[in-house]
Amino acid sequence: MPARELCNIPLNTGLNMTHSNIIVEKTPDAASAAAARLCKEIVTEAVHQRGLCHLALAGGTTPRITYMHLADHVTTDQVPWSKVEVFFGDERDVPQDDVESNYAMAQRTLLDHMPIDWSRVHAMRADAGDLDAASWEYERIIRDIVGNDSKHIPQFDMIMLGLGGDGHAASLFPNCPSLEEAHRLVVSCHIPILGRNRMTFTFPLINAARNVLFLITGDDKAAVVKRVFQDHDQSLPAARISPPHGTINIVLDAAAARLL
Ligand code: 6PG
Repeated sequence: MPARELCNIPLNTGLNMTHSNIIVEKTPDAASAAAARLCKEIVTEAVHQRGLCHLALAGGTTPRITYMHLADHVTTDQVPWSKVEVFFGDERDVPQDDVESNYAMAQRTLLDHMPIDWSRVHAMRADAGDLDAASWEYERIIRDIVGNDSKHIPQFDMIMLGLGGDGHAASLFPNCPSLEEAHRLVVSCHIPILGRNRMTFTFPLINAARNVLFLITGDDKAAVVKRVFQDHDQSLPAARISPPHGTINIVLDAAAARLL
């Protein structure tokens, strides 16, 4: 697919029609900047429509440049960041100041540079002794703050996600029991391939979102991008992300999009 292609391709997943925007930019930086622009549009629209924006940030390494783009223009943008409730789609079992922490990465690259209301930043306590209790507590916070959709599931304005080479998104990894969770919004899980524990949003919560924003760059992700977004390979967790009343925004660089 040629770079800078913006197209609206309805993804027919059989059960519902999910609308998607696919944006392909030539370079990782251009893709990250495009994701930042889209993020600002969604935040501004949400606050304009509903007075607040409920946002879940992605972890990993790819979002860092997007977060830095967002932080770079905070003084010139007219984005109502103080009206944003910030959550995290998943977290590793490390302290919040650990170099591996998704919270620490977002704080360093974005949150420390924003006119954010820190009382509206909600970190996952994935290093808690009782991870299941901590997951229930995070779900309670979400239910207290985020308004529900027609099925009484909290509806985020945007959930940002990356894509792992094995097709995981958030910390929904292949062959994990969390993939079958149909009621809870947040669960903890042991990830055998990592030998570590994680806390993660579940499919019911992700698929209730108004917007999902995938940001994926790099030639090493090209094969899994094709399997998820073109082949709809349901053996891959990310292929099961299909918000029936929302939009999947997929921002790629040319390398990650080269097999589409
Ligand atoms: C995490 C992320 C995870 C990430 C993918 C892609 O905690 O690691 O939530 O789902 O988005 O693994 O990671 P990269 O962006 O580092 O390729």
